[in-house]
Amino acid sequence: MKVGVFDSGLGGLTVVQSLANSLKGLEVFYIADTLFAPYGEKTKEQILKHSLDITNYLIKAHDIEALIVACNTATSAAIIKLREEFPNLIVIGTEPGVKPAMLISESKSIGVLATPATLGGEKYQKLLKDLSLEHEFTVYEQACKGLVEQIENGKVSHVDTHKMLTTWLEPMKERNVDTIVLGCTHYPLISHLIKEIMGANIKLIETGSAIARRLESFISNNIKDEETKIKVFYTGKIKKDMIDMILKNWEDGGQIMVRELHEQ
Ligand code: DGL
Repeated sequence: MKVGVFDSGLGGLTVVQSLANSLKGLEVFYIADTLFAPYGEKTKEQILKHSLDITNYLIKAHDIEALIVACNTATSAAIIKLREEFPNLIVIGTEPGVKPAMLISESKSIGVLATPATLGGEKYQKLLKDLSLEHEFTVYEQACKGLVEQIENGKVSHVDTHKMLTTWLEPMKERNVDTIVLGCTHYPLISHLIKEIMGANIKLIETGSAIARRLESFISNNIKDEETKIKVFYTGKIKKDMIDMILKNWEDGGQIMVRELHEQ
């Protein structure tokens, strides 16, 4: 099965890792749109245009059967249009896991970390409104401006990244937040810092495994017991050692190829 996956950069590889760990026989074509990153600080129209262009490329060049938008920000800006424009494609998006957070939070205080565009988008606002009708809880949101750049630059354990997070997380800690939604696919890459600041018992919600299950529900008849192959294409610059770091936990250890998009 040929699956296209895209994000503004490295973050969506956290989703690819979940796919690779739970499904066999995939051919994954991953686009890291690093020339245009970060998406979270661009307009909805700009993000929509990039999402449509990337999807067209993935269909024409790689004949994909399924698309995973491994980015909360692009999902918010483009998922409706993508489904309209490509009705024959399986299209799976990424949404902040607010509902699972509500189900496991004991203090009923949850934190949501995401990009400014995701938090300001209609999709997230509607999700929160719908959930607040069913559950009683307090949500503390933080737009993490600049965090995606830190991660793209490989500063996942840097003192400045720690400082940024401390400023955002200390108020949540004081307010008894026990569960944090990682509302951007880049953020699992700094979960060790979040645990350092909030304490090891903090519950972190990410969406990679839910996306893998969703894809599996579409393709269960189409899975071959073969090695998964991942091809990573990037549009700007990328930290190749970060790719190795993210995919190092890949239990299956299939093939990975990394290439600049215009090099092909
Ligand atoms: N990984 C993207 C997300 O999930 C990051 C967006 C950005 O580039 O700001 O939202």
